[in-house]
Amino acid sequence: MADIRAVPDDLRPPARPARRHLLSIGDLDRDDVDRLLATAQSFAKALEREVKKLPTLRGRTIVNLFYEASTRTSSSFELAAKRLSADTMSIKSSGSSVEKGESLKDTALTLSAYDPDVIVIRHPQIGAPQLVTRYTDAHVVNAGDGKHQHPTQALLDLYTIQEELGRIDGLHVAIVGDVLHSRVARSNVQALLLMGASVTLVGPPSLIPRGIEALGCEVTYDIDAIGAADVVYVLRMQKERMEAGSAYVPSLREYTAQWGVTPERLRPGQKVMHPGPMNRGVEIDARVADSVDSLIERQVRSGLVVRMAVLYDLLTHGPVAVPTQVQEVA
Ligand code: NCD
Repeated sequence: MADIRAVPDDLRPPARPARRHLLSIGDLDRDDVDRLLATAQSFAKALEREVKKLPTLRGRTIVNLFYEASTRTSSSFELAAKRLSADTMSIKSSGSSVEKGESLKDTALTLSAYDPDVIVIRHPQIGAPQLVTRYTDAHVVNAGDGKHQHPTQALLDLYTIQEELGRIDGLHVAIVGDVLHSRVARSNVQALLLMGASVTLVGPPSLIPRGIEALGCEVTYDIDAIGAADVVYVLRMQKERMEAGSAYVPSLREYTAQWGVTPERLRPGQKVMHPGPMNRGVEIDARVADSVDSLIERQVRSGLVVRMAVLYDLLTHGPVAVPTQVQEVA
């Protein structure tokens, strides 16, 4: 019998470190992102069929643990797992033992007793997903931790841009608004730069973290700068993260007058994105949100296939050969 050690190096499956978790965009390199976006595209094709369920993750268990409000992220993770035939459990902090004061460590240990394959977690504290990795054998996916990271949002945004504009490399994206409190902004800056786009952050000085240029993006306090971008990415004013009493902006009305994204501030054909939930009439004018150049609904649709790709990737990649074809229901 042939000795495996005798196989020449170039015939072995590509050596690729297995990614155990998805905690930050910093966990990914460009090849990882390309592979995830290509997998998402295969799933999008598979979902065009009448029967939308794929057997790929049959018998796997995915826990969604949400300590913060969520509509899009939690629903798309749940549907993504179901479309792939996994068993899912969704736990929200309200109505669970978290309300009785159970610590994150104890909740993680409790849920791990069911041997889940993946724990998806959203938590108001930075580093909570990292902490969960210490108490579980499951793969952990960060669905948003404080103002730190939201990697699957950035991936679905990349996917949306690639599908709509045909590329990411070489594009110019302006990210506008409350960067200071936004995990979406942090993940998106990293992800867009990784994929070769250039990024300009636009907003009032009080809402742009000092020194953020070190990431490789530009900063301007001039709203007219959005006119130069291919894509204008509008951020929500994160009122819940602004400490009471601190005045980041004189008033929301003032903010809207100075920084609101209105049709007058855009060129025809510029694409507009927003992660949701939107404060219509605050950071984004309703005419912009509903215009033909708005990709906002498209982003929600991308969320499903990109999260399917993330779950699939974590559960099927390893140091051995990788199935490239998405298996369909017989
Ligand atoms: C974002 C979030 O929760 O970080 N929303 C989302 O996941 N779609 C952005 C936000 O809340 O503004």
